[in-house]
Amino acid sequence: MYQFEIDAAADKAELYREMLGALDALTAGEPDAIANMANAAALIWQYLPDLNWAGFYRAVDGELVLGPFQGKAACIRIAIGAGVCGTAAQTRETQLVADVHEFPGHIACDAASASELVVPIVHAGRLIGVLDLDSPTSSRFDAADAAGCEALAALLASRLAN
Ligand code: SME
Repeated sequence: MYQFEIDAAADKAELYREMLGALDALTAGEPDAIANMANAAALIWQYLPDLNWAGFYRAVDGELVLGPFQGKAACIRIAIGAGVCGTAAQTRETQLVADVHEFPGHIACDAASASELVVPIVHAGRLIGVLDLDSPTSSRFDAADAAGCEALAALLASRLAN
């Protein structure tokens, strides 16, 4: 059993520091990428309030394919360059979207999604996939969320690269 103490009073940066420590402990020494993505998605879901989807798309044969996640069943395949996830994959830059309805080509997997944060996961120059967070609240994510999720993605990259 893994039990994490979530400090509800912690500020966002502290919350992400705690998550990073928990993710490190959960994935250290485990070479299975699917297991590590599954635990990462569960941890994010447990720690972060106001999400309706949190999980991974993996880069497989030149497209993004649905990986482990929490939330409603989602689109399985996304072309590189399509939607928010495909844009993060193509540009290899974090996409912080305050209102998904304003994002050209946004792919609505869950109609409840209003804002989205997608972070590319790159290891040794190779795109591994993306980390995708959705919220039913517009402007849910800010620069602290982007920095926190980029730190999570950086930790995970080498642990998803098999
Ligand atoms: N909205 C995403 C698709 C994935 S779902 O949100 C889970 C996009 O536009 O890429």
